[in-house]
Amino acid sequence: MKRIFAIAAAVLLTFPALADEGMWLLPLLQKMNGKALQEAGCRLTPEQIYSINNTSLKDAIIHFGGGCTGEIISGEGLIVTNHHCGYSNIQALSTPEHNYLMDGYWAMSRAEELPCRGLSVTFLKSMTDVTDILAKVEANAAKKGDAKAVEEAVRAKMQELTAEAEKANPNCTARISSFYNGNVQYLIVSKVYRDIRFVGAPPASVGKFGGETDNWMWPRHTGDFSMFRVYAGADNEPAEYSPNNKPYRPANHLKVSLAGVQEGDYAMIMGYPGRTQRFQTAAQLKQMLATNRIAIDARTVRQDLMWEAMCADPNVQLKYASKYASSANGWKKWQGEELAFEKLNIIGREEQKEAAFMEWVNAKKKRQEAYGQALGKIEEAVNASSKASRAVSLLTEAPYRIELVGMAGRFLQRIATRDGGISIPAGLAALKNAYRDYEVGLDCKEAVALLEYYRKKADPANYLEGLGAEGTDFATLDIPAYVEKLFGESAFTSYEKLEKLAADGDVEKIMNDPAVRLQNSIMSVLMKLYPVAYGSQEKLQEGSKEFTAGLMEWEKGKPSYPDANSTMRLTYGHVLPYSPKDAILYRHYTTLAGVMEKEDPNNPEFIVPAKLKELYEKGDFGQYTDPADGKVHTCFLTNNDITGGNSGSPVMNAKGELIGLAFDGNWESMSSDVMFEPDLQRCICVDIRYVLFLVEKLGGARHIIEEIAPVK
Ligand code: ARG
Repeated sequence: MKRIFAIAAAVLLTFPALADEGMWLLPLLQKMNGKALQEAGCRLTPEQIYSINNTSLKDAIIHFGGGCTGEIISGEGLIVTNHHCGYSNIQALSTPEHNYLMDGYWAMSRAEELPCRGLSVTFLKSMTDVTDILAKVEANAAKKGDAKAVEEAVRAKMQELTAEAEKANPNCTARISSFYNGNVQYLIVSKVYRDIRFVGAPPASVGKFGGETDNWMWPRHTGDFSMFRVYAGADNEPAEYSPNNKPYRPANHLKVSLAGVQEGDYAMIMGYPGRTQRFQTAAQLKQMLATNRIAIDARTVRQDLMWEAMCADPNVQLKYASKYASSANGWKKWQGEELAFEKLNIIGREEQKEAAFMEWVNAKKKRQEAYGQALGKIEEAVNASSKASRAVSLLTEAPYRIELVGMAGRFLQRIATRDGGISIPAGLAALKNAYRDYEVGLDCKEAVALLEYYRKKADPANYLEGLGAEGTDFATLDIPAYVEKLFGESAFTSYEKLEKLAADGDVEKIMNDPAVRLQNSIMSVLMKLYPVAYGSQEKLQEGSKEFTAGLMEWEKGKPSYPDANSTMRLTYGHVLPYSPKDAILYRHYTTLAGVMEKEDPNNPEFIVPAKLKELYEKGDFGQYTDPADGKVHTCFLTNNDITGGNSGSPVMNAKGELIGLAFDGNWESMSSDVMFEPDLQRCICVDIRYVLFLVEKLGGARHIIEEIAPVK
């Protein structure tokens, strides 16, 4: 007991103020973090982490499919990312006969690596600050023209900059991203590869062990990884899928370490955090909580029905696995956020910060002029839009989630050609593959529940019109009878019916389909709400830009980082335990023993594959045990600062070697997108040795280990 206490005390003493908070901008590492990185224990220079002239770590990190991070771990383009990042791709490749999602998969040769339709990965080439260039253009234009002319001039300059960059970097795309709520702009050049193939993954019982119950929580025992490979043309450049493409030869790949981690070790993560709200005001945060609550409640209605259908039929389980997981992930996150906001007094602390900020602003006339109106503008904008934007949330989380409505919507969107004409084949093409994961009976049940839910919750001013027989209004509509008729008569319930309906090219007939009518009815309410919900966007942006600029000036001289915006960042800190509440100390790692402890054959979320149990019982762990305790460590904790989008990110040691994959955050600090909590906030990582153990011992893919060639 004493020892545990001693360790806890030592942790507190050793790492009181070391870097932890911060999703740092790569081009500014030297300036902002050079010294702190070294002090924290990093043995690489900022230039070795990010460089535009030399090979650096960033060349091994990819934006995986737009929403996750991955890293290259061999000279032949092998990617490792999270299982939940590969999930929808693995599901799309699976059938009831070849269920790679549930059973796992390992390509035993290159020929068995499976092309993933629609999946791409992006390499970052460079990020350049172009704020001053654009500000000059803006200032010049402002001398001559009105606001519209200024906007035009800035847009033209942006286009010129991206066009120049694309010309200078063949096969690359360039864009300009905004940081610090519009105060800073970077030109970002990247290269996208589109021939990505699935190499292998453990069964979902391992890759998603613990399911939604364990999601967002520690202690964790999930083997959350999957592997893919980048393929390129003969010139190693991006190419559309072709059987002749070759494994990509990367500029750099991460070394994989077998050394493991110890408490207090340096750890850093590079990746693509998606969105944070660390510059938002209390007014905005209250609004965020309110819309999240609407989404939580509406999703509960839909998820309960999905879950029931999935448990009853393995085919439905496969079809809806990915839809369910992504819905439930946000649903649980927002609930945790709500609790953490309350417990950690996030709004109160934000209000205190704003009061202190205003005191600083009001101390000087010049500051008052620049920032004095910011908070007021934001609050006004939020107040003006709050009711309408809550109504939008209810609409988009309830009736809009009826899949039949989505089908009709996609069809309508795609039949409109650019020149104002109509192309029915384009509409059909958009839905060609949509029915593969569609279960009409379930959707029908959901439709009843979602419409009834909407009627109960919505302001009658936002009721849906034109449903049911002529003259019926929504308040008295017999919803089950309406839905039965809708699903009985609509051609959007299957691709074959839709093809038949569209065969004679009669657009009028399609427009009269009841699913199209329901879609139109929902859209017309949405169109009524949008102008109010987004009408004060400009004021909001103006206020946010001023507030953020003010905060930057207030904290001048301290290292600072912008909100996450799906651009590559570095976060660095240490491997650390934490105390979730009084008297409880959570160790910084879990082991395979914990998987066995959690096993529950009657709960689909906690099934342990027989082979894993056998390996455990035999102690067949190969080179993957921890040198200190001889156990297989499954997951570990760091105090790195991450958010959604970082999933799959490499966790690296002081030398930049791969020691784990980041895959989650912890329940006690679910408000982390808004405020970093040094004592509570942890990043949950899967130990890379567990990954390798699963590849070799559970998956039998020794050739992958040979390809990776991990280092001791
Ligand atoms: N919470 C994780 C994240 O947002 C995703 C975990 C996926 N697993 C799951 N059981 N849904 O990055």
